[in-house]
Amino acid sequence: MTKSRDNGLKAPRPDGHWWRQAAVYQIYPRSFADDDGDGLGDLAGITARVPYLASLGVDAVWLSPFYPSALADGGYDVADYRDVDPKLGTLADFDVMIRALHAAGIRLIVDIVPNHSSDLHVWFQEALASEPGSPARERYIFREGKGEGGAEPPSDWVSNFGGSAWTRVGDGQWYLHLFAREQPDFNWSNPGIREDFLTTLRFWSDRGVDGFRVDVAHSLVKDLSEPFRPSVDRAHDQPLPVDGSDPLYDRDAVHAIFESWREVLNEYDPPRSAVAEAWVPRPRRLLYARPTELGQAFNFDLLLAEWHPESFHRIIADNLTDARQSGASSTWVLSNHDVVRHATRYALPPEVDRNEWLLGGGTDPIEDRETGLRRARAATLLMLALPGSAYLYQGEELGLFEVADLDAAVLQDPTWERTGHEQKGRDGCRVPLPWTRDGSSFGFGSDGAHLPQPAWFAGLSVEAQDGEEGSTLEFYRRALHLRERLQGAEELEWISERDHSLLHFRRPGGWNSVTNFGDHRVQLPAGAVVVSSGPLEGRMLPPDTTAWVVD
Ligand code: NOJ
Repeated sequence: MTKSRDNGLKAPRPDGHWWRQAAVYQIYPRSFADDDGDGLGDLAGITARVPYLASLGVDAVWLSPFYPSALADGGYDVADYRDVDPKLGTLADFDVMIRALHAAGIRLIVDIVPNHSSDLHVWFQEALASEPGSPARERYIFREGKGEGGAEPPSDWVSNFGGSAWTRVGDGQWYLHLFAREQPDFNWSNPGIREDFLTTLRFWSDRGVDGFRVDVAHSLVKDLSEPFRPSVDRAHDQPLPVDGSDPLYDRDAVHAIFESWREVLNEYDPPRSAVAEAWVPRPRRLLYARPTELGQAFNFDLLLAEWHPESFHRIIADNLTDARQSGASSTWVLSNHDVVRHATRYALPPEVDRNEWLLGGGTDPIEDRETGLRRARAATLLMLALPGSAYLYQGEELGLFEVADLDAAVLQDPTWERTGHEQKGRDGCRVPLPWTRDGSSFGFGSDGAHLPQPAWFAGLSVEAQDGEEGSTLEFYRRALHLRERLQGAEELEWISERDHSLLHFRRPGGWNSVTNFGDHRVQLPAGAVVVSSGPLEGRMLPPDTTAWVVD
């Protein structure tokens, strides 16, 4: 059990299993808080907000990339894996930040991006300056082109952001990049790459980092035997095969890499945690989460689910079965920096194509924000009652909606250009947070924000919600603090209800979570209601509402 100190701050869990049921808050650093007033969030901004994170009651922060980067893909184009982007601070600032987090009882998970570097990484620059076939080129995936003069790309593989996955360099060779052209893929058959990432894991672990979030963990190993075989089109969400047969993704040989990572992570006391970002079919996810590998893998099923009790029930039951089988704990996610915020998803009819909707500036149809936020809060409370880790994304505790009307001129996501403006991309969930009601950037920084914030941010700012009974922020705080009491056995018992619009489960200690997905109010079970996602009507649970009841 997590203990409270006299000063009200949580002490870090003393054991090596803290991550199994942690509430983890994702910080997208350039959009969190800007201390130096350059319009980009930074590490000092995070340090200054540690009291806010402590008051929220999260167990850990997952920090998206803060490494030197030209920000071609929001920092997922890393130019140096063992340093801090000067735009965001220094290694000394990092040390100050981690100390402040730890002093507040909050762990730190950092993002690690092993599939690709930035094209500005010294190794890629060296590769460009070197001959075809040279050792420097062998760190990446360079090939000759096809057709007359090698003018055609070596294969028809597409980038996840649209367009060809190959780019040609001056001497005529092509290099592979599963994302933007500024993100050349590493060649993981090269022992030097394998060794270097182990060094990076040690570098950050030595600095006190508690865990790692592994970016596109399923793509490191590729079948590059020729002729190249077709791969699924990830840019258009084609599903991956369940047998590991795709040439680019989810190949069985990737697991040996993570076994070697686990050995390094286990050199530490407590062992460093890791969570795989792997958009793979459910049965394959287990493999990444094995205790001999990363220990956890993101489960994006809830994030993809419609607001429906059967979908939620099936997803929860399946994932808990998986977790039991693999020895991992499950993870739950409703929002992150890559998807439309869940308050907006639930505010739109399920048949709406969200990209089309974003392209139209979010006007057709108009969001039903009241329903969206009500459901978002209900889904969050349900998620926080589940065994396993809950990953929260900055701003969801304010009930932020997607900023759907960003002008084309300000878009930063490479998807926008790479798809020839067919996909608007992910900037709408990455707009800098509003801290205050007024000010040039609602308290984000002293001099504007790198993406424009809408006027409606004022009413959802931290200042507007702090201490306000019934606000989304106070609701998150209460739920997260109560959740600590749930961190006992990872058990869940389903309670069947005659009314199928209800989802009711019990956790150890007489803890019930009841969600009403239907359109009429229902009677709550006996017991004390400790928190609800929206107002109750006496003992009646209104539609789109979750309550925790302790009997
Ligand atoms: C997944 C990250 O979450 C996303 O933001 C990024 O664009 C890709 N990986 C490429 O690194």
